[in-house]
Amino acid sequence: MADAAKSTSGADELKEELCVATVDDFDVVVNISPDDNSGIDYLPYRYHPLVKGPGVTGFLYKIGHKVVAFQCAQLVDGGQTLLLNAGRVTPGTRGVGVFGRFTRRLFQHFMDQKLPHLKHVRMIVNNVNMDSNGHKILKSYRIIMERTVTSFELYAPEVKNQATRLPTDIPGLKQLSRDDVHALVCGDSSFLFPEGRAMLGIRAYRVMAQNTDLVFYGGNSRAFIVSGETNDVRSSSRLPIVHPCEGENKESLPEGGLPAQESDKTHSGDVLLSCGSWYPCNRGHLYHMDVYGSGSLDQWCAHLEWHLLRLVNVVSESEANFHIVSSVDATSVVEKLRGCFHLKHADFPFKKTFLVEKELS
Ligand SMILES: CC(C)(COP(=O)(O)OP(=O)(O)OC[C@H]1O[C@@H](n2cnc3c(N)ncnc32)[C@H](O)[C@@H]1OP(=O)(O)O)[C@@H](O)C(=O)NCCC(=O)NCCS
Repeated sequence: MADAAKSTSGADELKEELCVATVDDFDVVVNISPDDNSGIDYLPYRYHPLVKGPGVTGFLYKIGHKVVAFQCAQLVDGGQTLLLNAGRVTPGTRGVGVFGRFTRRLFQHFMDQKLPHLKHVRMIVNNVNMDSNGHKILKSYRIIMERTVTSFELYAPEVKNQATRLPTDIPGLKQLSRDDVHALVCGDSSFLFPEGRAMLGIRAYRVMAQNTDLVFYGGNSRAFIVSGETNDVRSSSRLPIVHPCEGENKESLPEGGLPAQESDKTHSGDVLLSCGSWYPCNRGHLYHMDVYGSGSLDQWCAHLEWHLLRLVNVVSESEANFHIVSSVDATSVVEKLRGCFHLKHADFPFKKTFLVEKELS
């Protein structure tokens, strides 16, 4: 009898289970891997949207009834793609295949539902994770897009004091409404998104109409700004951009900014699109500015100034970290804005992000 009880409890200790997470699991999930991301982890501040929301399911992985891992899955692209994020495993359980088994069970959970459109899996992987797990990840996933993260830090009240204008007073920029973004993605936007995908903050979408409402879901902090002229964003301004640091400047970004795409030829000037969103984190706030298209250094500076002023007007009492995520290194843009604002160097380990995809099987 004693032996039987022992062997049952031994089996229990090894039992691995996939469970759906609820909002009540907040404490256990936050404690899986406290502050792995250098003080910029979004999970403690964005837990609810990771387990509740359109097409969203949060998952726990348990070994012997103990939660050892978490990740979130969202159906996007009109149900064609499962977008994974916020993955983490308890430090003592890493490197022995737990996340691999967890992810395979998660896929099975979705395959069992026989969702008629579901075909692909997508995730964003940072350079730190890619360095340690890339050899495993790239056995089945392919890299669709690679982007560079240019980061700096600031103290919001200080930058606010240095500001001489409001974001709305910067000429040459237009903020896009939900309908503008919808019209943009319904037209030919390949000159902005040559890979047909957009990484926006912590999520990545196919550029398609079915994602517009997900992008704006929950009245989140997202703002799209455009400069330059394009038929797809008909009302975008043609005003010249004059940056207060140095006056008008047609200089390009080093490395020429983004290479012109064939489809650019139908547009009379450079078009730069930026998308900003933020979340609170242990280091104050993190602001993501995702940039698409090509533009002059002055265009880039105007976009960065817009997002910076927006940030300091919202989080007026906070330290903030700012990440520019683009296909080129944006250090020269930050350097130029240092002529106006006190932007501090940041030494984050996250220098690159990779968007990877595979077929669901
Ligand atoms: C990244 C992390 C979740 C990997 O967990 P792990 O249990 O040590 O990983 P494993 O030993 O199972 O090896 C990784 C397996 O998961 C798969 N995988 C799927 N998505 C992955 C992802 N986003 N990151 C790493 N591996 C991933 C790999 O392909 C590999 O599969 P395999 O078993 O078929 O070879 C873990 O190191 C961790 O919690 N790191 C800190 C948080 C973090 O960096 N999260 C990812 C952010 S992009």
